[in-house]
Amino acid sequence: MHFQDLIEKKRDGGTLSPGEIEALVQGIVSGEVPDYQISAWAMAVYFQGMSQEETQNLAIAMSKSGDVIDLSGIQGVPVDKHSTGGVGDKTTLVAIPLAAAAGVPVAKMSGRGLGHTGGTIDKLESIPGFQVERTLPQVIEQVNRVKAAIISQMGNLVPADKKLYAIRDVTATVDSIPLIASSVMSKKLASGAQGIVLDVKVGRGAFMKSLDQARQLARTMVDIGQGAGRKVVAVLSDMNQPLGRTVGNALEVREALDTLQGRGPADLEELSVLLAAHMVKVGGQADSLEEALLKVRTLLQTRAGLMSFQQMVEAQGGSLDLTRPDYGLPQASEIAGVTFTNQGYVKAIDALAVGRTVMRLGAGRERLEDRIFPEVGVELHKKVGDRINSNDIVATIYARDKSQLAQAAAEIKQAYTLTDTPPDPVSLVFDTIT
Ligand code: URA
Repeated sequence: MHFQDLIEKKRDGGTLSPGEIEALVQGIVSGEVPDYQISAWAMAVYFQGMSQEETQNLAIAMSKSGDVIDLSGIQGVPVDKHSTGGVGDKTTLVAIPLAAAAGVPVAKMSGRGLGHTGGTIDKLESIPGFQVERTLPQVIEQVNRVKAAIISQMGNLVPADKKLYAIRDVTATVDSIPLIASSVMSKKLASGAQGIVLDVKVGRGAFMKSLDQARQLARTMVDIGQGAGRKVVAVLSDMNQPLGRTVGNALEVREALDTLQGRGPADLEELSVLLAAHMVKVGGQADSLEEALLKVRTLLQTRAGLMSFQQMVEAQGGSLDLTRPDYGLPQASEIAGVTFTNQGYVKAIDALAVGRTVMRLGAGRERLEDRIFPEVGVELHKKVGDRINSNDIVATIYARDKSQLAQAAAEIKQAYTLTDTPPDPVSLVFDTIT
């Protein structure tokens, strides 16, 4: 195969055949296609796009490029949940225990955070003793016993995506709907779940800045999954402001535990309940979304979701003290409130800016090898629509060093936009694609 011909075909707006896509993916993994040809092809896709069939073929070919997880030993229909990434997004920590409490088996592989968005694995590692590395037989045993496992990646999953993503990252070709859709879905298909619930984030803190783009990405991913015989649904949700009130690993676990007891912020509870309900429906534990929502709300009220979370934590070697307000999670040594001298209503909170501040406090990584400090982060006491009076504490900074407080407080102030009149209410969920 002459890879140059494939680049030329795509450059001129042509459609690659399944055989050509297969050869390209194999060439990427074997190293036969050099990085400069991969880059040129990715740029051609960036400008010319791909048909749905091409995108689907790319996702399937990539999903088979390494290990494929066999979850057939799990009793029931294993369901996965994936978010395209946001700031303060801890819905996985709420939705998965709720779905598990409803009887849906969940074996989820999650990632570590990079850049301004946090990773579920980093959040879970703030729980003392929690182990994220598990073998497949251990995961299957755990899920059959307690219904849920959240682990870091097992095996050599989708090496084609690892290679392609690394090149896209440095060649300005990440922002392409067919490339994002095939990248995400190749990993979901290789992870073995039969049902997949996607949370596609829209807004300043997300990959997709506009609702139109997000809808297109969601449609493409749902079609890929369904074309591969999986049950898939995508929810489009807001990421213009951080979700919930906390950003930072241990703070987010604490907030998820509060939410599982009905004491969480309304936006986090609403989205987590919706995602859990979709998981329950996709997992065959309810015939309609209404029935699933009712089931999940009951599990929240009875604290069955909290018990599921606790069982999963214990199964993975972690320990939480549910009798303590801090649950025994790591605590920051430096804590300071942020007050405003001006007053008004919160019109916007720049999720990207908040995510970057929290990353600089030590909750995230600029580079893969950076160390994580689980106790640091920010708590936002005022969200969009709230009134701020002068000297109100608008946010709290949790830091490891006093010298970080002033800079972080200044950045958080900058992230807020105030207005004199109450802003229009904002939507949390824009659409659902089935
Ligand atoms: N997340 C992924 O896994 N892949 C992309 O291409 C973008 C976001």
